[in-house]
This record gives sequence, structure tokens and C-alpha cells, in this order.
Amino acid sequence: MKEALLNRLRDRDIPLKEFRQTAISLSALVASEIYPRFQGQKVVLNAILRAGLSMLSAFQEKFMHAPIGLIGIRRDEKTVAPHLYYEKIPPLPSGAQILRLDPMLATGGSTNLALNLLKARGAVHCTVISLISAPEGQAFVKKNHPGVSLYTVALDRGLDDRKFIVPGLGDFGDRYFGTH
Ligand code: PRP
Ligand code: URA
Repeated sequence: MKEALLNRLRDRDIPLKEFRQTAISLSALVASEIYPRFQGQKVVLNAILRAGLSMLSAFQEKFMHAPIGLIGIRRDEKTVAPHLYYEKIPPLPSGAQILRLDPMLATGGSTNLALNLLKARGAVHCTVISLISAPEGQAFVKKNHPGVSLYTVALDRGLDDRKFIVPGLGDFGDRYFGTH
């Protein structure tokens, strides 16, 4: 089921409405799968702007009591360096499980920056939840943050010369918000 939904997202020709509905449905399946692992624990959700907003409603539905942090990070189109432009992170209770929501993990630069920020605020237990990841990005994040758990629906082949995931689905944020 997850595979079928992800394959729809990979289709560059589907209309905006279907892309959005499919991303939300897939996130709901992921949230249901993840939920039992954290049931009864203190959970803080952390969505990365913009693309992580697509996963937030599904996770809010499951983790109804979880405070929500937002971190705005934009990848520079040329250098692919991540730039922080917004952050609002709630107090992180001791022992809290931080679930970081962002559908795409490509070079890992954005994830690395967000994890640095969360750790500086006291985060200890972080799980990075993605829909599609590249092996290069996962390796980068594991090297810098060995204690962090990585969840992904698909581990794709790699990155192209523009550091987009292959086969991937293109720019998730642009496709979800209709800005391409
Ligand atoms: C995308 C995506 C990740 C990041 C992944 O965001 O949502 O945050 O790129 O790339 P990386 O692993 O190489 O850092 P983008 O910068 O396109 O911003 P957007 O969500 O506002 O479109
Ligand atoms: N961001 C995306 O949205 N897609 C990629 O393939 C890489 C970064």
C-alpha cells in the first residue's frame, strides 16, 4: 500500500490535488505504523518547513497531546547548503522523543542542521521520519548523529548532479504547494 502511494507521488504528471491527497494518505499510513513504538511516551513533533507540513496533520491525528515545533530550512538552489529562516521549538521535556517530519532526505544537510538545533535545545532521542531518502544523506546524518534513528518509506538509488534524489520525485515542496 505504501509502495503504491509512493509510486503515485513519483509520477511527475499527476495533478496537484492528487499529489496532496496521496502525500497525506501516505503520511497517515506512516503515522499509524510509527505510533505504537512511541505510545505512552512523551512525544514532540517537529516539522520542517515547508515540505514537512504535508506530514503534520497525519501525525497530529495520532499524537494528539504532542507539542509541535517548526523549523524553516531552505536548501540553496546552487550550493545546496541549508539555510535556517525560522524556528519555534517548544520546551523539550527530559526523556522526550522528538519525531522530525520531512518527506525528503537528500544530502542530509537540512536534517543535520535541524538535529544540531534540536540537540542544542536539549533533544536526546530523535527519530528522522522521511518518505524518500538517499543513501548519501543517510550516511551523512548517521556519521554526525550516531544515536539518531532513521525511518524512511523508500531508500532510493542516490543523488544526481544537482543533488536531487534519483529516482525521487522532484522537488517535494514545489509539487505539494504548487509553486513549480
Ligand atoms: C527539501 C526537503 C528537505 C531538503 C532535503 O526542502 O523538504 O528539507 O530539501 O535536502 P537535503 O537533504 O539535501 O538538505 P527545500 O529546501 O526544497 O525547501 P521547501 O520544503 O521549502 O521546498
Ligand atoms: N529536496 C527535494 O524536495 N527533492 C530532492 O530530490 C532533494 C531535495
